[in-house]
Amino acid sequence: MSYISLTTLRRVFLPIRTAVTAATLSATIFAGAAHGSETQNSSARQAEPADTMQSTGNTILITGGGSGIGRELARRFNDLGNTVIVAGRSMAPLQETIADRQNMHAYTLDVDDPAAISTFSQQVVKQHPGLNVLINNAGIMRFEDLSKARDLDDAEAQITTNLLGPIRLTNALINHLMTRANPVVVNVSSGLAFVPRSDAGTYGASKAAIHSYTLSLREQLKGQVKVIEIIPPAVQTELTPGQSSREGYMPLDDFMDGVMGLFAQQPTPDEIVVPQAGFLRWAEREGRFDDVFGRLNAHAIRNEAAATVS
Ligand SMILES: NC(=O)c1ccc[n+]([C@@H]2O[C@H](COP(=O)([O-])OP(=O)(O)OC[C@H]3O[C@@H](n4cnc5c(N)ncnc54)[C@H](OP(=O)(O)O)[C@@H]3O)[C@@H](O)[C@H]2O)c1
Repeated sequence: MSYISLTTLRRVFLPIRTAVTAATLSATIFAGAAHGSETQNSSARQAEPADTMQSTGNTILITGGGSGIGRELARRFNDLGNTVIVAGRSMAPLQETIADRQNMHAYTLDVDDPAAISTFSQQVVKQHPGLNVLINNAGIMRFEDLSKARDLDDAEAQITTNLLGPIRLTNALINHLMTRANPVVVNVSSGLAFVPRSDAGTYGASKAAIHSYTLSLREQLKGQVKVIEIIPPAVQTELTPGQSSREGYMPLDDFMDGVMGLFAQQPTPDEIVVPQAGFLRWAEREGRFDDVFGRLNAHAIRNEAAATVS
């Protein structure tokens, strides 16, 4: 198993420390064919061990499928012969995701809106009865200064999108998923669920919470629904402004190669952890937590101080 080395961390963080604004400075440490037919899954669920996600023939719903990791998951799973439904707040990027592809569908959905989740879930199940895989990928990340009273809009938004969204959508679809063959729920957390960075406090807390919730979901659905957690490291997407070209962040294609390689394993791992994410994911288990936490956060604090001075 390999990890991001200290040298790599220094190479990544030190030049950035002197070069970018407070917001981007505080972002630097975060680690953070043939097309399938829906009818293949429309039969009643059979008794099968739920330890492997089938690679093809699924009908997969992916939230946040209009950009970044969600878009690439959608395309890669479609390439493998799965029907893929992407959902997000804006139709234009979703249309771009599915352009010139077969067996892909786009729906607008704001996962912050419980009523919309309810209406959408009924509609999507009616129109795609083969739906057997839910990927809760939509998420937002905001930087916050916890040292003085602030407007909590950003904090509340992150809890709503990153935690309540997956809880509500999974709840709306669980009864349907239980009737399908090879049902799967995938939640996307973050390396920051395992080692938080102080300038993204609510983000890390929301991801730690969805990790915990995923453990409970896996336990209660054991033998019935495969429950998987994707734990990304820092990946080049526009999750935060400028991140898609930030040096030291993992190129999206490389990340996706690693993710799809892990999805191809049998049985499917409960946690999709590319080696670059192991630096944070396994810090506690390997006795590195205090060291990693200290380094990440000492760096963040220095960055903010430098930015304030400049
Ligand atoms: N990139 C990284 O370094 C990294 C690291 C760890 C974890 N992650 C996680 O990976 C997931 C995907 O992020 P990404 O990096 O691919 O960033 P991204 O490109 O910004 O993707 C996030 C997606 O979520 C959608 N979204 C946001 N709020 C939504 C809402 N209320 N309802 C429906 N859709 C919503 C966005 O679409 P609209 O705005 O059009 O709705 C967007 O397509 C997130 O959960 C993120 O926390 C990313």
